[in-house]
Amino acid sequence: MSLKSIRINNSLLKGIDLPSLWLRERLSGDQFIDPNNLQRLYEPSLLDENLMIDDYSINDNFLRIKFSDGIKGKINIDDLYQEINSIDVIPKKKIWNKSDTLQLFDDNKIFENSHNLTQMLKTFYEYGYVIIENTQAIENEVLSFAEKIGPVRTTNWGKLFNVVSKPNPNDLAYTALELKSHSDNPYRKPVPGIQLLHCIANESIGGDSSLVDGFSVAEYLKKNNKEFYDILTKTNVNFKFTDIDVILENKSKLIELNDDGEFKQISFSGRLDYVPLLEEDKLKTFYRARKCMYELCNSDQFKIKFRLSQGMIAMFDNLRTLHGRTKFDPNTGFRHLQGCYIDHDSTEGKLRRLLK
Ligand SMILES: [Fe+2]
Repeated sequence: MSLKSIRINNSLLKGIDLPSLWLRERLSGDQFIDPNNLQRLYEPSLLDENLMIDDYSINDNFLRIKFSDGIKGKINIDDLYQEINSIDVIPKKKIWNKSDTLQLFDDNKIFENSHNLTQMLKTFYEYGYVIIENTQAIENEVLSFAEKIGPVRTTNWGKLFNVVSKPNPNDLAYTALELKSHSDNPYRKPVPGIQLLHCIANESIGGDSSLVDGFSVAEYLKKNNKEFYDILTKTNVNFKFTDIDVILENKSKLIELNDDGEFKQISFSGRLDYVPLLEEDKLKTFYRARKCMYELCNSDQFKIKFRLSQGMIAMFDNLRTLHGRTKFDPNTGFRHLQGCYIDHDSTEGKLRRLLK
């Protein structure tokens, strides 16, 4: 027997050609993989490109192979099946709109056991946000909560930022103005993946919160206005932040797609975007498309409205879920939120580990 590839007559892998070199790189066992870190102990780039399969057999759900370089080894067939079919433990996204119920979790229960933490993280990936109740309404609590999940990202604002109304602010968040649905910091490289906003006090009249599923808005545009959808997924907009210390800039589409044409990221912040100088017709279309997206993101059709009360944390995927607030009157009571950012590495990595 001397084969360039094999086709396994198995209910999982039926009909798929598996090339010799591709299989050789997937051999399991301590001879090939360090058992502590599961990293390869050899350099796969140096394997013979003309490697052949001299013999193989299947039993006990393992594929055992002898290669032409004299190496023998085995591979778990379930692992092959999961890799080939891109089966992921991270749950699929559930697109939602205003009629969905708020995804609430209790801080006293989340970290009680791994099941509760898993449920919270799965919901976060399905809906792009979770609301945590019953946290301590004290300063820095947002950091304590975030660090139970993963490292906090430090930016030029430090580890956390205080959302309070203050004079001469370097961001409109630090006023009492209404904030329309937006994503945070699209000018950063990379854009912060996850935002946590913790309410220490919300005694003012006004200052209610809202969240919008940006992927739901993108889906609506894709179905109902292909011209707008196309220009929003193809035009690179420059986002810019300026203060006395730094000027931060980053380009992205308002609706960013991945290589498979799926929604990857929403960047929407009308306070900070600079549209490129397109041809007149295209520019006109872009402005109409952006206005349409703005109206959808701020419409009652998509917005889930709630009040972030004392002791609550809103944790949301800043690459998918837009957030906003109504204006408030600082003379009617104190309003103080603290926020921070963590990366998807933290939530996704922890969830993968919990589900393994
Ligand atoms: Fe914000």
